[in-house]
Amino acid sequence: MSTRQVHLIDHPLVQHKLTLMRQKDTSTKSFRQLVHELSALLAYEVTRDMPMQEIEIETPLETMKSRVIDGKKIVLASILRAGNGFLDGMLEVVPNARVGHIGLYRDPKTLQAVEYYFKMPSGMDERDVIVLDPMLATGNSAVAAVDRLKQTKPRSIRFVCLVTCPEGLKTFHDHHPDVPVYTPAVDRGLNDHGYIVPGLGDAGDRIFGTK
Ligand code: URA
Repeated sequence: MSTRQVHLIDHPLVQHKLTLMRQKDTSTKSFRQLVHELSALLAYEVTRDMPMQEIEIETPLETMKSRVIDGKKIVLASILRAGNGFLDGMLEVVPNARVGHIGLYRDPKTLQAVEYYFKMPSGMDERDVIVLDPMLATGNSAVAAVDRLKQTKPRSIRFVCLVTCPEGLKTFHDHHPDVPVYTPAVDRGLNDHGYIVPGLGDAGDRIFGTK
């Protein structure tokens, strides 16, 4: 298996919508609508290489063998809270998906990610998981989320974000080289506050209008 995969999603529709989202004057309403539209497109790309199986079906005319996605239903695992912004759009494309949630906060003393919520569906060993977090910035919460997720022994894990940076990708793949990252953008880097630059600001605040 090749490792440290980064899939750059360069589709013109994706890039166009991301450019609109980056602009500081984009309203909460527009930002939310754009995340919704973009996440449906990202779902299409991140599921591109999902394993398939052939089943026998009957058309009105004859029987045939045809392909369906293999295994139990896909899991969309949202890292709270900004990951939730991806859910509605992705569920339009993958309506049968199960939804898991991972809540983490950073301990101000140790600076380590501490879990406050974790809920996944049963039967994870037969499921493929797509982890959702719009910003793969320092990589610390992504690493902690995937550490915890791996304890449930899912069949596979993919990570999808809107924007990342070289530092975040390095930290993430130093810990989880087996988890491919799907992203429309790899920005220049991180500022002193751990924000991606040029980035798009605080994704959670922009989705939920909490600035
Ligand atoms: N989280 C965000 O929402 N934005 C960043 O740039 C970094 C982390």
